[in-house]
Amino acid sequence: MKLLFVECCISQRGGDSRTLVLANAFLEAFRESYPDAEIETVRPGEMNLRPFDRDMLNDRDALAGIGAFDAPVFDLARQFRGADAVVVAAPFWDLSFPAVLRTYIEYISANGLTYHYEADGCHGDCRAERLVYLTSGGDAEREDSLGVLYWRQLCGMFGIGQFDYVFAGGLDLDPAGAPELLAAACDLARKLARTFKGTRG
Ligand SMILES: Cc1cc2nc3c(=O)[nH]c(=O)nc-3n(C[C@H](O)[C@H](O)[C@H](O)COP(=O)(O)O)c2cc1C
Repeated sequence: MKLLFVECCISQRGGDSRTLVLANAFLEAFRESYPDAEIETVRPGEMNLRPFDRDMLNDRDALAGIGAFDAPVFDLARQFRGADAVVVAAPFWDLSFPAVLRTYIEYISANGLTYHYEADGCHGDCRAERLVYLTSGGDAEREDSLGVLYWRQLCGMFGIGQFDYVFAGGLDLDPAGAPELLAAACDLARKLARTFKGTRG
């Protein structure tokens, strides 16, 4: 089983990033429960990804038109499509997440590879059965949190059947209470990790 970890924990806290602490809690529990699983990490924030402009889209469409999905522009989409399960971790920024994660989504959203259209609508073509979105925010969690809604809908588009998330919220409201809130979120993440595998093992 291959787990893809999309690490987008851009933070002024460096290694003490609360989002990264949350992600590590998940990954450690996952490793303990599934020692044979392979974990592959991708860090969009370190890849100098350029958002798509018109010429880049035309070039990508031309490659897709001749079925050249082995071209480098599809590398991230092929990696995402082939994963058995996916973990995405990013802080809650400006009501969603860092722009580089949005750019990463442009790269993995490749029509004809990770999804396609039929007369009745969009169909997902990704292998993963599960995706978990891990995030931490200064304000308290809201039911309509955009990052969570976004990833939930992307799972629908990519054909990933089960979506879960853990939101470590309220971390900037009362500095004294933050460690306890983060610890509770880490416990939730660990619990989720222990059952985080699809039917393919
Ligand atoms: C650029 C930036 C934008 C942020 N925007 C929000 C926001 O819209 N809502 C919110 O609740 N917290 C916001 N925060 C606070 C962070 O979500 C919070 O501190 C989070 O725990 C940071 O995670 P980290 O420790 O991994 O860096 C923002 C922080 C930064 C640096």
